[in-house]
Amino acid sequence: MKDIYILAIETSCDETSAAVVKNGRKILSNIVASQIELHKEYGGVVPEIASRKHIEVISHVIEEAMNKSGKTFKDLDAIGVTCGPGLIGALLVGVSTAKGLAYGLDLPLVGVHHIEGHICANYIAYSELEPPFLCLVVSGGHSHIIMVEDYGKYEIIGQTRDDAAGEAYDKVARTLGLEYPGGPAIDALAKEGDKNWVEFPKGYIDGHPYDFSFSGLKTAVINHIHNLEQKGEGYNIADVAASFQKAVVDVLVDKTLMAARDLGVKKIALAGGVSANSALRAEFKQRCKREGMQLYYPPIELCTDNAAMIGSAAYFDFIQGRTAGLRLSAYPNFPIGEKYLLDER
Ligand code: KG4
Ligand code: ZN
Repeated sequence: MKDIYILAIETSCDETSAAVVKNGRKILSNIVASQIELHKEYGGVVPEIASRKHIEVISHVIEEAMNKSGKTFKDLDAIGVTCGPGLIGALLVGVSTAKGLAYGLDLPLVGVHHIEGHICANYIAYSELEPPFLCLVVSGGHSHIIMVEDYGKYEIIGQTRDDAAGEAYDKVARTLGLEYPGGPAIDALAKEGDKNWVEFPKGYIDGHPYDFSFSGLKTAVINHIHNLEQKGEGYNIADVAASFQKAVVDVLVDKTLMAARDLGVKKIALAGGVSANSALRAEFKQRCKREGMQLYYPPIELCTDNAAMIGSAAYFDFIQGRTAGLRLSAYPNFPIGEKYLLDER
């Protein structure tokens, strides 16, 4: 079979990224221009600033991705782009650029769901990995347990009722005076703290065994700190970080493994920015080993937003003939597993 080369673009949040991926599994280049420094002073992503920065750098990022890949535009088989979910203005920069390239180069266009991209990062990390498997997707905007039934075929088993896991990390970090993004900062600080300092609530929801809720946990952490401050009692922020992290990790691992047991699945994959978390990885490793389950997780640079994962997802759509027309738009609330937008894609 002929090799398939896809140029992929990702601009759904605060990373401008372009990649060239071969056959959905091999990275030839993966350039990520992070805007974190720009958003730090605001404590989170400012949508308007994100869109403007994407416009400023996208052509350079694509040029660099092409140069690094050793391929030319003539070698490409398709253009893949994240079309949702995400920030509308940010998404539009990537989608418009991809449409322009597809039109100019006369190449097929593939619209990719951002979460599908996160899941597909595992196909790059493990060339032998094939569906079916159960995937925990935890990022700044999502916390889902997803059954990957086949390439491009997903069923949502559980999801968050309120905040995403990464959002909880970012908000608790802000309360502790740590820099944005809070995940890596809490991850590092927690290593020096006592995870049994306080047992924070884990947000189990009656009648919905696979769903998550993180806003109660975030509030519990903030209230606990304020109570101590009001009483004039000191505390060690490393202990707060470690105890908060334990509550998040325990609930993510418990529910994912419970879903895997109930569904009779033996393969578990992790995806999204929060899956870079060292405590989460360590706990999954230990528990999966004990339960005889196979565990997969991408290297850290493929956990957070990048275009290579979008190139992988685009490949599996492309070989199944699921390409988009030039009417493709940006869909800020694009639900995974629902293909109703396909006609329009
Ligand atoms: O997947 P991602 O790069 O962007 C979204 O699609 O949202 O995820 C970003 C999120 C942020 O909330 C960040 O704090 C979190 O992932 N994150 C982490 C770690 N690294 C990034 N959370 C916990 N531990 C980490 N090591
Ligand atoms: Zn993401």
